[in-house]
Amino acid sequence: MISTRLTVHAAEPGPVIDRHIFGHFAEHLGRCIYDGLWVGEDSKVPNVRGWRSDLVAALKQIRIPNLRWPGGCYADDYHWRDGIGPREKRPRRVNAHWGGVVESNAVGTHEFLDLCEQLGCEPYLAGNVGSGTPRELREWVEYCNADAGMLAEERAANGRREPWKVRLWGIGNENWGCGGNMTPEQYAAELRRFSTYTRDFPGAPLLRVGCGANADDFRWTDVVMRDGAKNTFGHALMQGLSLHYYTLPGTWAKKHPATPFDESGWKSVMALGWKMDAIIRGHRAVMDRYDPAGNVGMVVDEWGAWYEVEPGTNPGFLYQQQTVRDAVLAALTLNIFINHCERVRIANLAQTVNVLQAVALTEEGGGRLVLTPTFDVFGLYLPHYDARRLPVHSDAALRQHDGLSYPVVSATASLAADGSVTVTLCNTDGTAPAAIALTLAGRAASLRAAKVIVAPELTACNTFDRPRTIDTRNLDGVQVKNGEVALTLPPGSVASLHFA
Ligand code: AHR
Repeated sequence: MISTRLTVHAAEPGPVIDRHIFGHFAEHLGRCIYDGLWVGEDSKVPNVRGWRSDLVAALKQIRIPNLRWPGGCYADDYHWRDGIGPREKRPRRVNAHWGGVVESNAVGTHEFLDLCEQLGCEPYLAGNVGSGTPRELREWVEYCNADAGMLAEERAANGRREPWKVRLWGIGNENWGCGGNMTPEQYAAELRRFSTYTRDFPGAPLLRVGCGANADDFRWTDVVMRDGAKNTFGHALMQGLSLHYYTLPGTWAKKHPATPFDESGWKSVMALGWKMDAIIRGHRAVMDRYDPAGNVGMVVDEWGAWYEVEPGTNPGFLYQQQTVRDAVLAALTLNIFINHCERVRIANLAQTVNVLQAVALTEEGGGRLVLTPTFDVFGLYLPHYDARRLPVHSDAALRQHDGLSYPVVSATASLAADGSVTVTLCNTDGTAPAAIALTLAGRAASLRAAKVIVAPELTACNTFDRPRTIDTRNLDGVQVKNGEVALTLPPGSVASLHFA
């Protein structure tokens, strides 16, 4: 049995945990858009204007705050004009990045922004820098955001009179790789140019996200912050800088499967997942040097587990199953974002459905839908949206694996506007339960709910036949005595405690 003592300082609220760190990402990749979110208006699967209703309802349940689109690597190969106007006239192009399939462009700007309206979330559009032009991006912004002028008229002719006033714009994606293989110096120059032409239209100030580093490439951040953050007159050219880091056990050439895995496979994901903390610390230090006031937010717009694809599926489609190991990874990662929420303002799980660490999987051809353990984690973290972070002091031991360390118990806490306190915690040990002694300092502990995500065995999955094998249940046996809360976290689990 592991023993961990936690003290939550309930009377010392800190910075706001921006709800946008619980964001999502949908790329034209595999079955994320087509045969995932989008089934088309004529499908037998219930849909609203082509968007799958059960999936929309599920995503509304976790109140997704923003959705990034159309990529990913696809973004720097995407020309937005391909996706407007009558569908039957839209060009059919090869999606060269992802499986070489023919892209019908049935989903374009109007459809995607309709999805965001159905979801009640903010769109986050990724612009094309790698193969596009400043003019193309400038016109996309104007098409979406202008009240008047020929692009607003074209938008109206295509069925939308009111501008969408899209706030979140990415200036390229992975321009150090699939987005043009640029050096940071080249990218900083492109950022200056592209950013200049992404205009604020009336009532629609933009939050421009510059392309940030791949994992721990701190030099990239250094150069882009130095050369790309401001123009010669000191005006901001970006309000956010991205970061991509995937938890990828194995190597790019030989990735581990999502399941089964052994003890070492479990630990690899915990250790590689917790590496996100060191990576964010490194980039934060560089950003703090150039921007001590914190004007440029860190935007971790791609994160999650990346495994070998499921046997028999297209390697270019990145379809993978999930276990409770991924739920613990999601909790660890969200805890890291919360711990760094002074700088981390937006984050996007990769990707929403049928791709990488999805929150949902659908049967091919539009059949059944299953929610993954990661979906449940987002459910437990809902009370943290826009709440104020509370300091948590923990004596959790550090575990070592392959030269990396990670905490055996990770916990975060927040104070919501209604005065309630939520503590989210996970046990990263896959075999031993963790006895937690938790003190809520500065207020009486009146426990309202205790929930836990557990699996019958570590390698179990939610399947179409057994969709709730891994589920959120009440956490039994929580005792509150003299202001101290005692509970036991099952091995490999994620939990939340809610105090009124
Ligand atoms: O999420 C899958 C891919 O991973 C994205 O397209 C790209 O940005 C990253 O390399």
